[in-house]
Amino acid sequence: MKLALAADHGAFELKESIKKHLDEKGIVYKDFGCFSKESVDYPKFAYLAASAVAKKEYDFGVICCTTGLGVSMAANKVHGIRAAVCTNEMLAEMTRRHNNANVICMGQNVVTSELADKLVDIFISTEFEGGRHQRRVDLLTDIENGKDI
Ligand code: RB5
Repeated sequence: MKLALAADHGAFELKESIKKHLDEKGIVYKDFGCFSKESVDYPKFAYLAASAVAKKEYDFGVICCTTGLGVSMAANKVHGIRAAVCTNEMLAEMTRRHNNANVICMGQNVVTSELADKLVDIFISTEFEGGRHQRRVDLLTDIENGKDI
């Protein structure tokens, strides 16, 4: 299990605390930045981590900003990425079970660091259910490929 992490300045601290949690659990990750609280543009960092996941270099992405919203929009522009903003345990579980999400997005002003750790744990340990959900995820891919559905 390898994770791609990224955040903008608005979630630098949240990313650092998630890294501490992953270190304690022995989970391997790469930090794609940013590396300080200096103001940066969130699409660049979301793109770095999301494209590494899309290339299958990492199993999942964990990408954060102040709200989780901007990074999710940026990540979802990357072909092959299904990024979901998660604010509670149910969302972190359901977006894996039903949407086969490969990136979890969170907001530093939205979730506590304790909740963020919990959401990451749930997200990376929940299996996609497949079946009828595979058909729906395939339709998402069709949309991404410019097909009419
Ligand atoms: C940065 O000020 C803020 O806009 C960013 O962290 C993010 O929340 C955008 O959606």
